[in-house]
Amino acid sequence: MLTVALPKGRIADETLAIFETIFGETFRFESRKLILEMENFRFLLVRNQDVPAYVAHQAADIGVVGLDVIEEQGHDIVRLLDLGIGKCRVCVGIREEDELDWNRPQMTVASKMVNITRNYFSQKAMGVEVIKLYGSIELAPLVGLADAIVDIVETGTTMRENGLKVAETIMESSAHLIANKHSYLEKKEEILSLYEAMKRVVDGA
Ligand code: PRP
Repeated sequence: MLTVALPKGRIADETLAIFETIFGETFRFESRKLILEMENFRFLLVRNQDVPAYVAHQAADIGVVGLDVIEEQGHDIVRLLDLGIGKCRVCVGIREEDELDWNRPQMTVASKMVNITRNYFSQKAMGVEVIKLYGSIELAPLVGLADAIVDIVETGTTMRENGLKVAETIMESSAHLIANKHSYLEKKEEILSLYEAMKRVVDGA
C-alpha cells in the first residue's frame, strides 16, 4: 500500500486522471472526503503547501506538488518525476510604470514565498525587506506596502488587470512526483513501478 498526498484542486484531479489512464478505473474522492482508497493506494487530499510536510514526515510515502513549493520549503525529500502539469512561473512583479533598479541599496518585497524571495535578492546582492503575505499579493505595490512582489504567474491576467508587469522570472515550476526518503528505500519496487507507469502516461507513450 502506498499513501499519496495530493494538493486539493486541479493538480489532484489531473493526477487522478493519470491513475485512471494507468489502471482503467475511476479514481474520484467522494464529496468532502479527504481519504480515497483504490487499488493499492491511499490518497490524501491536502493543501498544496502541506504536501511536503506529509511526505517529509512519512504520513504519505509519495506526493505531488509544485517545484515552487519544494524550493520554498526545502524539505529533504526525493524528487522523482516532472508531471508536466500545473505549469507556472515564479516572478518578480512591479507596477507598470516602474523599473527594477538594481542600484538601490534596499527594496521592500511582498510575497508568500519568503525564502525564494530572500535567496533571489541576496544572489543579486540587493538588500531586501520581505513582507510575508498570505494572498492578494498583487495589491501590495499598488498601495505602497512594497516596491515589488514575488508571486506565481500562470496566465499573467492577475498582474495585468492590476496594473503590474513581470520584471524578472525567478523560476519555472510544474507539479512533481516526490517521495519520502525512507519510503523510497522501504517500498522501492512499488514506488518505481508507479513511477514508470506515470512516466509512460506523461511521455504520452
Ligand atoms: C496565484 C497567484 C496569482 C495568480 C496568478 O494565486 O498568487 O494571484 O494565481 O495567476 P494568473 O497569472 O493566471 O492570473 P492562486 O490562484 O494560486 O491563489 P492563492 O493566492 O490563494 O494561492
